[in-house]
Amino acid sequence: MEVVWLPADGAGIQRAAAALRAGELVAFPTETVYGLGADATSAAAVAGVFRAKGRPLDNPLIVHVTDAAAAEALGVEWPPAAAVLAEHFWPGPLTVVVRAATAIRVPASVRGGLDTVAVRCPDHSLARRLLAAAGVPVAAPSANRSGRPSPTTADAVAEALGEGRCGSAGVVWLLDGGPARIGVESTVVDVSGPHPVLLRPGGLARGAIERWVGPLHEPAAGGPARSPGMRYRHYAPERPLVLLALSTDQAVKRLRAWPAARTGLLAEHRVVQELQWPAVVDLGDTPDSAAAGLFAGLVRLDRWPGLDRLAAVWNNQEGVGWAVMNRLERAAAEVVRS
Ligand code: TXA
Ligand code: MG
Repeated sequence: MEVVWLPADGAGIQRAAAALRAGELVAFPTETVYGLGADATSAAAVAGVFRAKGRPLDNPLIVHVTDAAAAEALGVEWPPAAAVLAEHFWPGPLTVVVRAATAIRVPASVRGGLDTVAVRCPDHSLARRLLAAAGVPVAAPSANRSGRPSPTTADAVAEALGEGRCGSAGVVWLLDGGPARIGVESTVVDVSGPHPVLLRPGGLARGAIERWVGPLHEPAAGGPARSPGMRYRHYAPERPLVLLALSTDQAVKRLRAWPAARTGLLAEHRVVQELQWPAVVDLGDTPDSAAAGLFAGLVRLDRWPGLDRLAAVWNNQEGVGWAVMNRLERAAAEVVRS
């Protein structure tokens, strides 16, 4: 697609908002990752998102809104759990899945044909100003091609969707808001049933959510997929990735026996310090720094010349470490746990 960059100022936001209202695609920053947005009330606009991403039509999109009142105005049921979560965590990296009511304003294509809708209010000033200026709810998946790592910078969006990378024709407007603060996508919780169900670990930690709505359940096995997105392979680098879910010491010991010249390594700072690894991405000291560097690091190593495999060292479920673990497990061809 043709990517048209817009400045992160009032004029850029007005141009992007007009494009959304005209049914065009706008990539914009959120606190988690960049989204590829379209008017969520327009089936034609939303079809453009699926095309640009090469996304399976049964994988529904998240609808972005300015606040809880705008979520309710979509024509959804708004149970107490949704109200409590929105009150405490919006704007922020939490998506809630609620039941569509008969007055639902978003077409079935946004919902992947389901009778539920995912809604989120992002915590990013550009995203919030864009939503307010557009005056429509915005359906926005992460702005990557389907199955690839989510973009955390405007450059990564341009690379994913630009000429030659993406078969789709047309224009995508791109608001550059610098690197995304969190770096992994929102936590998705389904509150449409009798108890809250965790559909995707993400930027908001499990414990924070459970404090307000009690234990999060696993999706029921066997029934129809409640979160179609979790069925598809995600974040897959082109080279096979091995995840070493081990202690620092165990991982260092294991890696000393690896062919360093052919392996790209993604690891916490202590591991990086102890090994003199040639192709390395340092995830820093904390779950926050690891989340922020994760997707860009995966892409960087995947492009590094002369490598035939990747290794990641991660074994920390604390805070957003939970989501880092989940993304690495899903990207990995193999997980080593002992
Ligand atoms: O942080 C985020 O959530 C980012 C930014 C751009 O907001 N968006 C994002 O969207 O990650 P996407 O499309 O990459 O992931 C949406 C996830 C998918 O796993 C999808 O299947 C699930 O949410 N989802 C959407 N609507 C759903 C629904 N009605 N029921 C169950 N799962 C749903
Ligand atoms: Mg995505």
